[in-house]
Amino acid sequence: MNQPASADGALIELAEIHKVYQMGASEVNALDGVSLQIKRGEYVAIMGPSGSGKSTLMNIIGCLDTPTSGSYKLRGTEIRDRDDDELARIRNQEVGFIFQTFNLLARADALHNVELPLVYAGRPKRARRERAREMLGLVGLAERMHHRPNELSGGQRQRVAIARALVNEPSIVLADEPTGNLDSKTGLEIMALLDQVHQGGNTVILVTHEEDVAANAERIVRLRDGKIESDQATRRAPRGAPASAVPSGSSPPSGS
Ligand SMILES: Nc1ncnc2c1ncn2[C@@H]1O[C@H](COP(=O)(O)OP(=O)(O)OP(=O)(O)O)[C@@H](O)[C@H]1O
Ligand SMILES: [Mg+2]
Repeated sequence: MNQPASADGALIELAEIHKVYQMGASEVNALDGVSLQIKRGEYVAIMGPSGSGKSTLMNIIGCLDTPTSGSYKLRGTEIRDRDDDELARIRNQEVGFIFQTFNLLARADALHNVELPLVYAGRPKRARRERAREMLGLVGLAERMHHRPNELSGGQRQRVAIARALVNEPSIVLADEPTGNLDSKTGLEIMALLDQVHQGGNTVILVTHEEDVAANAERIVRLRDGKIESDQATRRAPRGAPASAVPSGSSPPSGS
């Protein structure tokens, strides 16, 4: 599913994105003019205080929500011009979403939960069952596939959610605090899984509150009050990392 990005190499191009929530008489500027480009294969961490707009930004990138104003281009195509069917296809086939709260179906076992995106994609039953089994094996849950979410530990549930997010081989993986509810050992296992996804050539965008988790990424974008406060390469960034990975905001990028 590695289609080419737009001409200048950006997979995700956000320009002056605003998201305003109307709360009675007052307005909440959840995103207040965010411009951001992410290239195919990048590994980006999004950080910032609670309420700074991280989840709102992830939902827009994942086409789960639309901005109030501004432009979002995915592979060079303006998202607001796409119809509902096309957006549903993008969500199902191109984006894998790992939610902080897992969002698993309580009444379905692990296997069925992982299989679900393949059901929506219209894959034949035998093939999808086999693929879901394979994914559960990959996240170390082959022995737990007939357990329901409430019969699994928090870390196991998160691994089911990851298997489900990856089952369709999405090229963009969005993870909103995937280690937030986990003990540190399980957290490290989850991060190793995301590393594998990135090494497979996929784009990974991760929200986290923890600096050491963010250090796994190549680039850290910090939000504050719905604005980008800084955008910097980490020590894991490949040599000759793109010049886009410089602090942004008040100080303009210097040369290069
Ligand atoms: N559906 C909504 N209606 C009204 N306001 C909302 C809605 N969703 C989010 N907000 C507000 O928008 C702002 C950004 O919320 P968002 O969920 O993006 O923050 P966040 O950075 O993900 O925070 P956290 O770290 O706590 O998850 C917050 O002030 C929040 O109260
Ligand atoms: Mg959030």
